[in-house]
Amino acid sequence: MIAILEKSIVEGEVNVSGSKNAFFPAVGAGIALGAEKIVIKNTPKIKDVFVMLELLRELGCEYKIQNTEIIINTEKIKLNNVSPENFGKIRGSVVIFGALLGRFEKAKIPMPGGCKIGKRPIDQHIKAANSLGYRVEENEEYVEAYGAPKKEGKIKFDIKTVTGTENAILMSINSKVEIENVAIEPEVQELINYLKKYGVDIRLELKEDKILIDGTKREKIKEVEFELIPDRIEAGTWLILAAATEGKIKIKNVISEHIKAVVDVLKECGAKIKIFGNKIEVEGNKKYKPVDLLIVASYPAFPTDLQPQISVMLLKAEGKSRIKDNIFPERISHIRELKKMGADISVENGEIIINPSKIHGAEIEAKDLRSTAALVIAGLVAEKKQTILKNFELIERGYENFVKKLKNVNAKIEVFEDEIRKEEIIKGISNYVPYST
Ligand code: EPU
Repeated sequence: MIAILEKSIVEGEVNVSGSKNAFFPAVGAGIALGAEKIVIKNTPKIKDVFVMLELLRELGCEYKIQNTEIIINTEKIKLNNVSPENFGKIRGSVVIFGALLGRFEKAKIPMPGGCKIGKRPIDQHIKAANSLGYRVEENEEYVEAYGAPKKEGKIKFDIKTVTGTENAILMSINSKVEIENVAIEPEVQELINYLKKYGVDIRLELKEDKILIDGTKREKIKEVEFELIPDRIEAGTWLILAAATEGKIKIKNVISEHIKAVVDVLKECGAKIKIFGNKIEVEGNKKYKPVDLLIVASYPAFPTDLQPQISVMLLKAEGKSRIKDNIFPERISHIRELKKMGADISVENGEIIINPSKIHGAEIEAKDLRSTAALVIAGLVAEKKQTILKNFELIERGYENFVKKLKNVNAKIEVFEDEIRKEEIIKGISNYVPYST
């Protein structure tokens, strides 16, 4: 898919959808708890969710979709050999590992995939299973865990991992376990809330980054119902998009606390932001103050999933900014594309260096979900020429109705299925000027 973008000043209102990355642990929680029926409300209609649903079907589950509600029936779930195809398309699939261990005390899964944003090993997930007494065997294609788990145990992560922490919780659901050095992203905290709601004695010791779980006395559960929190990365993308395009939008359905780090950075740079309950109003500026050094790290710090987007906005700052992404230092595919648009941006000693730049339209290519969002912002900021963004379909992995939402706030974007249609429509829709060096 190809998107053609033109400089725009966004204006209006946008409604944030349910969280992509909260969907996976919700499914995992339902399976691990042994529920036969899992109802998930406020589910975004995005590709990664549909891939997960297909994967559940391979495991023997059935599902139906009613508006924003997904109902999964797990009565016939079994330890099928699920195909690597769907598993490898998304990262969230990895929670099936902990979920199956929680339900059946054994699991065999193909290697999970996800965006190519650097190394994404699962050694910590395996460490968690080993710490619980499972024997784990892995080869290039599969990971298998078996053997009775300990009724009491301790898991200590070497690094903070979001889905690793989710998996550790899910596999500990029938035991008494202390999990140390946990990730405390809102999606993890929501998982803890869901489990508490359904009778698991679990608590997060925030000051010590520790989770204490005791599932030994919990009752059997037949049915669970979850409502997904708003997607904080979608909300953050809109904030940055409005700030970068000098627009003004009201973002509805946001938990502002979840994006405090983003709001703080934007305010420091000079964007005007007002918070009213679950709404945020953002008004952009023509120029911004640079950020000396933005450290991207685990929650509550600035999230890696918004690093590409803020990299684009900082091109408008009046001085040099630096970003150090401590989670995915190799998440830099947007940089080469931004250079094609005339941006003075580079990577030096593991830091992204951003100098003030006026970018122009160009033919560019997205490589992963968040870089697609960042390059859309770039296309809406770019002067002079239109931007042709290839691989635009990647956006559908994680942003619900993105084009519709963009058009609602007056963003100039047209999307085409293929090259031929693109040529036709370019001729028709506008005074397209191809970019040439
Ligand atoms: N890591 C290891 N070993 C492991 C697990 C992780 O070395 O066993 C490393 C990773 O290589 C990375 C760091 O630990 O350097 C943190 O990775 P983490 O495990 O936290 O990431 P994840 O669980 O694979 C989730 C989100 C990502 C998001 C990251 C970081 C889901 C499905 N995915 O991935 O979301 O970037 O946390 O916050 O929850 C996205 O939505 O675009 C996306 C990539």
